Amino acid sequence: MTDIDTLSERLAALSDNRVSTPRLREGAMTLALDVGGLSAEERSAMVAAIEKEARKHPGVETVRIAQTAERHAVTIIAVASGKGGVGKSTVSANLAVALARLGVRVGLVDADIYGPSQPRLLASEGERPQAEDKKLIPIRGAGGVPMLSMGHLAQPGQAIAWRGPMAANALGQMIDAKWDDIDVLVVDMPPGTGDVQLSMVQKHKPAGAVIVSTPQDLALIDATRAVNLFEQAGVPMIGLIENMAGYVCPHCGEMSDPFGAGGAESAARVMGLPFLARIPLSIGIRTASDAGTPPAAGSDADAAPFLALAATVRDWLTTQN
Ligand SMILES: Nc1ncnc2c1ncn2[C@@H]1O[C@H](COP(=O)(O)OP(=O)(O)OP(=O)(O)O)[C@@H](O)[C@H]1O
Ligand SMILES: [Mg+2]
Repeated sequence: MTDIDTLSERLAALSDNRVSTPRLREGAMTLALDVGGLSAEERSAMVAAIEKEARKHPGVETVRIAQTAERHAVTIIAVASGKGGVGKSTVSANLAVALARLGVRVGLVDADIYGPSQPRLLASEGERPQAEDKKLIPIRGAGGVPMLSMGHLAQPGQAIAWRGPMAANALGQMIDAKWDDIDVLVVDMPPGTGDVQLSMVQKHKPAGAVIVSTPQDLALIDATRAVNLFEQAGVPMIGLIENMAGYVCPHCGEMSDPFGAGGAESAARVMGLPFLARIPLSIGIRTASDAGTPPAAGSDADAAPFLALAATVRDWLTTQN
């Protein structure tokens, strides 16, 4: 590895992979920095850090940094919950598919590094993403949604041994992939409030968060924990979704409420959050999800709550621009 390669790596780490390979000629070092999506403060801090690092390189007298804004700003929506198994992944996959059906240019990242489920939900198991310019190229999943998951990057079971920094790095690679054709990135968060979640809210700054809960009281207490994680990081709440709310009988279509009704809606009111959707517990949703045919892509009753949810999220997005 040459000195320039080493410098190049250091600059890439400093800048989140936003710099071109530096060139040194007659004492002048030139490089391009992609400043798209950065605030003025972030930009000047990054320029200063790059300049300082470049000046340490032997033979460098001047440093010229050409600032470009080619990086396309993507709006990140995090789908989270305090508790596992409440349906985050199901909601994320179907929200992405439904947004795509509504004409939103949307992609999906599965941030559940230790238990990825999106390759199964969107029928892209066993696929491996290619890379270009050190960036991953997303895979096209069911419903035409471009996606990346740890399940595409590691062999089954391998990711389990990864420690915090490696997991955060894998997340960064997926978020900073070549998402050239999309405006919105739905991120399926792992359960709870650990390292990956912190890295997500602090480093990748979602534009908003959706919290998924089930009607049980316990899950709602956990939802509050997830809400706090985002609020402390200044991430706006899009709202709360009640999943597995009411049971749709597969024989007669009648709806019953084994866990009680309206709990999440009133909890949302208490927490001051918009209530976004009520998604019933439906065998059809589970079997279609397991088969990699997202219900939101279909035309039966199971698609309806996801399409309504996507319309609400799309309206929220338009208020953000
Ligand atoms: N509305 C629903 N109706 C029926 N089954 C559902 C519904 N939502 C989710 N499920 C099922 O519940 C299980 C858990 O859902 P899912 O994997 O989406 O939850 P999760 O919150 O992402 O879990 P984890 O915390 O493990 O990541 C899955 O088998 C899924 O098919
Ligand atoms: Mg999940």
